[in-house]
Amino acid sequence: MTGKRILLIVGGGIAAYKSLDLVRRLRERGMSVRAVLTQAGAEFVTPLSLASLTGQEVHQELFSLTAEARMGHIELSRDADLVVIAPATADLLAKAAQGLANDLASTLLLATDKRVLAAPSMNLRMWLHPATRRNVETLRGDGMLFVGPGDGAMACGEFGPGRMSEPLEIVAAVEAALKGDTTIPLPGAKPRPLAGRRVIVTSGPTHEPIDPVRYIANRSSGKQGHAIAEAAAQAGAEVVLVSGPVTVPDPAGVKTVHVETAREMLQAVEAALPADVYVGAAAVADWRVGSEVVEKLKKGPSGPPSLGLVENPDILATVARHAKRPGLVVGFAAETQKVIDHAQAKLMRKACDLIVANDVSPATGVMGGDANTVHLVSKAGVETWPTLPKPEVAQKLIAHLAALIHAKEGGA
Ligand SMILES: Cc1cc2nc3c(=O)[nH]c(=O)nc-3n(C[C@H](O)[C@H](O)[C@H](O)COP(=O)(O)O)c2cc1C
Repeated sequence: MTGKRILLIVGGGIAAYKSLDLVRRLRERGMSVRAVLTQAGAEFVTPLSLASLTGQEVHQELFSLTAEARMGHIELSRDADLVVIAPATADLLAKAAQGLANDLASTLLLATDKRVLAAPSMNLRMWLHPATRRNVETLRGDGMLFVGPGDGAMACGEFGPGRMSEPLEIVAAVEAALKGDTTIPLPGAKPRPLAGRRVIVTSGPTHEPIDPVRYIANRSSGKQGHAIAEAAAQAGAEVVLVSGPVTVPDPAGVKTVHVETAREMLQAVEAALPADVYVGAAAVADWRVGSEVVEKLKKGPSGPPSLGLVENPDILATVARHAKRPGLVVGFAAETQKVIDHAQAKLMRKACDLIVANDVSPATGVMGGDANTVHLVSKAGVETWPTLPKPEVAQKLIAHLAALIHAKEGGA
């Protein structure tokens, strides 16, 4: 959890003193904490205590010109991985359930794009009151997470439910919440089935030098691999695209690493591990010239030079047998004959989970073209898709991979 950022809203409850210890426990685990103190909260703990323990300025006012100039309230609501309310007063829960935004804390709760974890704390009659019950029900339905409250002796002398969870219980709930994707998509936004996942895609050809000016290449354009990287990013994944020399632009929202040779591509892929998914769409040269030539080869009386070829590293097989093997390893098979037979053999030989096979005979126009006809070959069988534009193949493939991941995890 090192490096995770928590926005802690401290409400006006008697348990506010525990939020000071909570800050320490979170920071011990490498998280940074930015605190927001309600006006009532400041009756219980001082901004100075919170500032000293968080090591950061404490935010209290919605209408503060100086604070807005430093960090606006919208930015403040987004600049965290998780929002935590501790103590969450009956009043804060009521405001959040109603969507009120009449002070800094309630405005942040309405404006944030991150999950909110509430640790309620109140007198048992306040907690059991039908109004609070309704509010909690509404907030759960809206996606708010809750930890506690527990049963116990209260500061007011009564006994029952309403006691705020202990700091370490809240820390455990924070850690659990941070394991998933904590970003809330905009209502009506496209689903992001790969949110929180890391995907590595290779794309394009590789260039294997013959001498300083000549190289061995192939006709791969990178259009399919780049479209897959872009589709994965649109599905919410963090994407590293390792691209050979291509003329297509780097996709938006993707970290693109440019390489030339197969060996450089392998190095970049290994550096990008670990990942949840690997899609090897690049047309990696099987061979390279064995002996490195420093000077340009010249015509001469001895006739054409013979290029002694040696095998390149097998990137797909290396990733599939890697100590940091991604949960899903997908290869591409570009064939000109017996497409499915060769893909099935490749699936076994390379120990991957899925082969996307396509016919790259010149007549198909696939290499460098804008459309593709693919067959998905796995242990489960062969699925043939109709001819589609490459971006559509990419989107369908990403949806298929997301479904495979979720099925795998659901069944585990
Ligand atoms: C001594 C004292 C203790 C309080 N403790 C709580 C409490 O534990 N939980 C709660 O919901 N409200 C409690 N309140 C009431 C809140 O402070 C009050 O509703 C306030 O408006 C909450 O503001 P806030 O939600 O903006 O922090 C307490 C009030 C006082 C005077």
